[in-house]
Order: sequence, then C-alpha cells, then structure tokens
Amino acid sequence: MTIVTCSLLAGSACNNAGPKKSVAEDSTAAVPAIEVQPYGEVDGEPVSQYTLANGKGMIVKVINYGGIITDIITPDKDGNAGNVVLSYDSLAGYRQKGNPYFGTLVGRYANRIAKARFNIDAAEYKLAANNNGNSLHGGLKGFDKAIWKATPLPGDSSLLLEHTSPDGEEGYPGTLQAQVIYTLTANNGLKIEYVATTDKPTPVNLTNHTYFNLSAGKDSTILNHVLQLDAPSYTPVDAQLIPTGKIEPVKGTPMDFTTAKRVGDDIGNVKGGYDHNWVFEKEGLQTVGSLYDPGSGRFMTLATSEPGVQFYTGNFLDGSLKFTRNGAYYGKNAGLCLETQRFPDSPNQPSFPNTILKPGARYTQTTIYQFSIK
Ligand code: GLA
Repeated sequence: MTIVTCSLLAGSACNNAGPKKSVAEDSTAAVPAIEVQPYGEVDGEPVSQYTLANGKGMIVKVINYGGIITDIITPDKDGNAGNVVLSYDSLAGYRQKGNPYFGTLVGRYANRIAKARFNIDAAEYKLAANNNGNSLHGGLKGFDKAIWKATPLPGDSSLLLEHTSPDGEEGYPGTLQAQVIYTLTANNGLKIEYVATTDKPTPVNLTNHTYFNLSAGKDSTILNHVLQLDAPSYTPVDAQLIPTGKIEPVKGTPMDFTTAKRVGDDIGNVKGGYDHNWVFEKEGLQTVGSLYDPGSGRFMTLATSEPGVQFYTGNFLDGSLKFTRNGAYYGKNAGLCLETQRFPDSPNQPSFPNTILKPGARYTQTTIYQFSIK
C-alpha cells in the first residue's frame, strides 16, 4: 500500500521538497487506527465514515460519498472540543437538493466555467449549465456526489480516496483518475493532497468546500472571525460571479486582507458578500494566511501549493437546509470557505494560467489547514 501511495503521489507526499515557510510536519509516531462506521447508502452502494484521530486532541471524520469532511473536532482555549465545520446529522443532509457543498471535494473543475463551455484547440466542449447558464463545481454530478474508493493507509492517520471520472462525464473530455489523501498530522494539521491524471487534454481544478466556523456553533456567523491572506490581488467578477479576466490589486479595497482584518468589517462594502478568488504571488507550497476566532481562541493557518483561494462567506445560506447537525440554524454567513484552487473560468480566460491537464502530465495540489490556540 505504501508503494501504491508513493507512486500515486510522487512529487507530493514522497518527494516533497517541503514548504518554504513553516507548516505541519508529519510524525511517524503511532496514532490510533482509523475507525470505520457505516453511514448509509447511495443507489445501493454502502457509504462509510472514517474517523482519523491523532491522539493529540484532534479528530477528523470523512465519508467516502463526495469525500466529505463531516467533522473537524479541535479544542478551544478552555480545552473544550468542538466541531468547527458546518455539517449535517446524516447522509440525508449531504444528499438533499441544494446542499451547498458542505465539506465536499470539488471537481473536475472547481467554481465557474462561463456559459458552460470551453475550447481545447479547435474542439468545443459543452458542460451542464447548473448555475445561471454557467457550470459550477463540476456540473450536475460532480466529484462531490461520487462514491470514492476509500483505503485507510497504514502507519499514519491518512485516508486515500480514489475516483475515476469517465471520458465525457459532465461533458469533460478524457478519463480522469483522481486520488486524494486526507492526513491528520501529529501537530493538529489537516493535510489534503490531490493528484490527477488523464488520457485526453482536460481542464482540472480540484478543491475542498469545507465551511469553517471556528466557534464550533457558539457564534451563528463568521463575521467576528479575523482573516489574513498574503494575497496582493484578486480576480474581479461580473454580476454572475464570472471573472472579468482582470487581476487587480486589493490595496485600498474591501478585498484587502494582507493585514489581519475582521471578516465583518468591510463585508457590507462588497455586493453580495465575499465570493472571489484571491491571488497569491508565490511558488510552491507555502503558508498563505490565517483565520482566528477571538471568542474560542481557535487559530487556523492555511498553507497551499495553489495560486488562488476562493474566499466565500456563505452568502447564499438562508436557514433553509434540512438535517443540520443538532438542528443548527445555518443562516447567511454561518460559515466561510477557503477553497484553494486555480483561477475560476481559466479555460475561457487567456490571461489566466493554463489549467488544461495533458496525458502524461500529473496534476497535484496540496493544502494544509493547521489548528492551534491563541
Ligand atoms: C462557491 C461559489 C459560490 C457558491 C458556493 C456554493 O464558493 O463561489 O458562489 O456557489 O460555492 O454555494
């Protein structure tokens, strides 16, 4: 199994040159075995929940439907453990129509592709238009709704998830083989490593859509959270949240989080709330920001290999979701997402970095959410 993992993640887990700033290090210390529980079924296929624990006070639970993170349990400044992600009581919650991607993996292409179409060379590809005539988060049945093959990896608190997306699925060309490894590190980091390969050129942009609320249910919104992003620029969008193609400086705008700022301070000056792609000007895996909840003392840093992050403040949450955990009311701004990614709509934006994966090449992305107390 170790050999399989290393070959899947060559250049990432096995030959990682390492981040340039200090981020989570794995430990070889023994950790509790991953526990597996039945979690219902989808179309006759069983779904399981995998509990990763590190023996250091942190627990992460993942289901193999959508690769969904259902729980990230961390202690607050008084030592009380709480789940810091928006979640449901059961699979029915994750399966409900309009579930806004709570905790899911997202693919084949995260965020929007304008007019649900793109060209590769002379060929045009049409996608399902599931968002105002545009494609959102991989289409009608994206990776968030797939049943992933799950394999707990020995010797570590790591879970390997694998999914093959057939040629033509949701309109995308090429058979895409995707692997994701969730690792709970010894020092309270959640590391997510993604790898994908294809047999025809196809756009790829994978991410995770967890909604954080570091108060663990004590605060009904994330407006008091303090965010910092080492992002000097962002990609402005039109009324349909499609990038205009420009990359503009954040300085002097409500988008400026280069110095830590309360999320609620400027949100009223952004139409609809924050739902944009911030641009990091850096190479490789680095720490790019942090999130702090002064009430609970929980502090999370964000490290990623990606050039961008979709910072989304749960603007479309309106309290209408069913099966919420313990009956929680998830209204507007109940949680926030930090979806590390390549830029939205890149297949139609010549000014953005290319996101077309070619046969023989390997898509990789690594993101680490690192938890502590301040
Ligand atoms: C992303 C998008 C948002 C919204 C959510 C899901 O973050 O950018 O506009 O669609 O997903 O509700």
